Amino acid sequence: MELQLPDVAATELLATRLAATRPPRAVVYLHGDLGAGKSTLARAWLRALGVSGAIRSPTYTLVEHYPISGDARALHLDLYRIGDAGELEFLGLDGGEATLWLIEWPERGQGWLPAADLRIDLAVAGAGRQAEFSATSPAGRAWLNALASGASAQAFAADS
Ligand SMILES: Nc1ncnc2c1ncn2[C@@H]1O[C@H](COP(=O)(O)OP(=O)(O)OP(=O)(O)O)[C@@H](O)[C@H]1O
Ligand SMILES: [Mg+2]
Repeated sequence: MELQLPDVAATELLATRLAATRPPRAVVYLHGDLGAGKSTLARAWLRALGVSGAIRSPTYTLVEHYPISGDARALHLDLYRIGDAGELEFLGLDGGEATLWLIEWPERGQGWLPAADLRIDLAVAGAGRQAEFSATSPAGRAWLNALASGASAQAFAADS
């Protein structure tokens, strides 16, 4: 599935839909070059899940933790500046407790990250952005179906 995101508001709407349709546990790889819009999507997604305080960029910390509803927890990772994927071992990532992983630059953590359910490839497209979705697990496939068939999917123009 591919979507055009003509402005930041479109990315924020997508984040809301992804938050609403996500499975109970989900690992999401956010691919895309510098400036492709990964953090914008991740930040709006965390907001949609009810995170109300500051949403820091994990540029230097590599990971930020957020309590979301109940005892659920979201992890936001940005691995752009990681020296070696093995550093992930020392971050104390408790995969067992995290219910949502949003991972920017996942290719830099290869071998140390949980397998993805959903991969989103973001790219600059004119003044806006383009998002391409690939399901990489059964839960991811069901998720994409829910996303594509949801009533508000019509709000996303240029679906293909
Ligand atoms: N759909 C969109 N349309 C237009 N501009 C957008 C869109 N989404 C994000 N942007 C803008 O793109 C810029 C870069 O966004 P962002 O920081 O989210 O990119 P990134 O992929 O996280 O980059 P990096 O890898 O450097 O962290 C920001 O100024 C943001 O407002
Ligand atoms: Mg970023």
